[in-house]
Amino acid sequence: MKLIHSVLGLLLQLLVVTSASLKESNKLKDKYLISTLPGLHSNIPKDEVPLMFGGQLELYKENNTHLFFWKFQDSNPLPQYKKRTIFWLNGGPGCSSMDGALMEAGPFRINEHREVTFNNGSWHKAGDMVFVDQPAGTGFSYTEEYDHDLDQTVWQFLRFMERFYEMFPEDIDNEIVFAGESYAGQYIPYIANGILQRNKNLKEGEKPYNLKGLLIGNGWIDPNEQSLSYLPFSLAAGIVNNKNTEWNDLLRQHEKCQNAINSISGDKLDDFAVASEICEEILTKILRATLDKGAFSDAQCYNMYDYTLKDSFPSCGMNWPPDLKYVTPFLNEKDVQHDINLILFKKWHECSGKVGRFLRAKNSIPAVKLLPDILKEIPVVLFNGNRDIICNYVGTENFIKKLDWNGATGFENDEPYDWIYDNEKSGYIKTERNLTFVNVFDSSHMVPFDKPYVSRSLIDLLDGNFDMKAADKSQNATIITYPLGVRKAVELEPIQSVTTKPVPTGTEIIGSFTQFASSTASSGPEESKVPGEESDSDSDSDEEDTSLNRITRIIQFVVVVILIWGIYMLYNAYKSRPSSIIKSGPSGRKKNVQWADQLRQFQQDDEDSRDQGFLAKTFNKFKRAGTRGYQPANEDDYLDEIEMGDNLQQQAEGVDDFIIDSDEEGPSPDSRSPDSSAPSKPNNSS
Ligand SMILES: *[C@@H]1O[C@H](CO)[C@@H](O)[C@H](O)[C@H]1NC(C)=O
Ligand SMILES: *[C@@H]1O[C@H](CO)[C@@H](O)[C@H](O)[C@H]1NC(C)=O
Repeated sequence: MKLIHSVLGLLLQLLVVTSASLKESNKLKDKYLISTLPGLHSNIPKDEVPLMFGGQLELYKENNTHLFFWKFQDSNPLPQYKKRTIFWLNGGPGCSSMDGALMEAGPFRINEHREVTFNNGSWHKAGDMVFVDQPAGTGFSYTEEYDHDLDQTVWQFLRFMERFYEMFPEDIDNEIVFAGESYAGQYIPYIANGILQRNKNLKEGEKPYNLKGLLIGNGWIDPNEQSLSYLPFSLAAGIVNNKNTEWNDLLRQHEKCQNAINSISGDKLDDFAVASEICEEILTKILRATLDKGAFSDAQCYNMYDYTLKDSFPSCGMNWPPDLKYVTPFLNEKDVQHDINLILFKKWHECSGKVGRFLRAKNSIPAVKLLPDILKEIPVVLFNGNRDIICNYVGTENFIKKLDWNGATGFENDEPYDWIYDNEKSGYIKTERNLTFVNVFDSSHMVPFDKPYVSRSLIDLLDGNFDMKAADKSQNATIITYPLGVRKAVELEPIQSVTTKPVPTGTEIIGSFTQFASSTASSGPEESKVPGEESDSDSDSDEEDTSLNRITRIIQFVVVVILIWGIYMLYNAYKSRPSSIIKSGPSGRKKNVQWADQLRQFQQDDEDSRDQGFLAKTFNKFKRAGTRGYQPANEDDYLDEIEMGDNLQQQAEGVDDFIIDSDEEGPSPDSRSPDSSAPSKPNNSS
């Protein structure tokens, strides 16, 4: 009797508690429901209006920390789709995930009338999407205390998840996927690592998070290797060549970067700060060397997020993507801020300079070092839009080549699969031991912006929802993914429109670059062949490369070069040098570095250290090399560079910082430049 009583009592208590927490979560949900937006009911098909929640969720009262999130749930999900929550993070640091929500993987795009329109390629059809502005201070999030290190961003995000699941307890068993871009290549491995640790040290009453996998697009994961890809990538893409008047200077900068990296002794991100000043300058110099002063003012500079586009100088991509000019005023409308439940109305900037300035990550190791442990437990997909310069695919493939995970180094089979999505060749894939690399053709830094449907099927790579075909006489080995809702095919149909034109992989490009650089060092520029010159990644060109064709191209090319040269000379005659897009440090004078010899020395170094671990190679090279008598060619020059780096660093560093001369948050909602100037890593739109 007593027993029954106590059991009943317990049950009753449980009922009261659960109904109370249910009520609690429902109350929260009411507060965060989003049901109106400009254009929502006029532009979006009725059965496509997603179920939405969003607002500034309080994490810590003490310092008034609130993270803004926007959750999209398909109101008409396909029956075969499992319950899944995809957290999406943009980069910066300090750039808002509203980029992802309103220009990339979310269900809406914003039109010129500042209304939402429908993106039928939205990822929310493959799982709930939750876009989060983090760390606090980013986008619509706010705080009185900014994060300095990546560990803090992890704690903050775990606290966010705790609050999130209080509101959505029904989601707690969902599969969790993290997806994002650019500097999120640091955030995501850090958070994933935090979740895996949490799952092993659960506190009373906590449930493990069902972390399923990671998807990182054009991620800034390994700053060193990625910086060293700028020149090889630009050369292979035909952005620069050795006939450029600045070619030797570019090679020199590449050298300096390699030198600086060799001299890094620690393994914290901060140890890379000086190197990254020097290394990021490679990109700045490439943009300056390829400046076309004869073009229209809005097309003088390469867009660093998509080299097939041009932008005004010195923006070089900062005005891109075009949707941004609608998104910014849309998010700054009072009505919209009301619709998305803001409790603190805030001017939305794409990127917050303040967040970037605080998040120096001085005590954080680069995320690439977290990958091996993560890969022991979950699959990771690293994908790169092939037109991006700033976080290009060559850099990603190159650091993977040196990465040691699950029992081997790099991909043991470096031959890529062709990737076919919906019967079209969409890229190439390498996949082994839980790590998948995808080169997405015809895409920029923001892959879902260019390719919503194709990018959505990347989720299938995590799921194993794809088919593989071995190579045969007619085609390469192939991985096939399918449009949403199409189940894995049982009978494979023959694939059409597969071009057989080979696209050089990142590792091939790095290999030929090293050779090419040293050959241009010793021989004249005329004789050298630019590797991968025809590789221009446009796989859909099916014209044949007859030799006649090639000759015409060479002639055209020579004419263009002569024209550009002539224009350049004319300008030189009438004007002084083009004004620098670099905030020049105190030591802007030219250096006399024996770069050619150094380059050969590097090759030697590379060969010598091939059999060492990744760590040794990246961080201890200089020390080791020292014992072999290796020194930078000119110690004084070298130190000079470091001083310059320090100096720039004080002004808040970053590629964008070099380009935009302003440092403070600007008043204009349309201007992203002030905000995005400070972040120390490839930022903006990321
Ligand atoms: C969205 O795309 C699917 C196929 O992928 C199609 O069946 C559907 O009609 C499209 N919806 C709209 C509103 O365009
Ligand atoms: C890969 O990931 C799975 C989980 O998806 C895990 O069970 C496995 O141990 C991992 N490691 C290897 C070497 O595949």
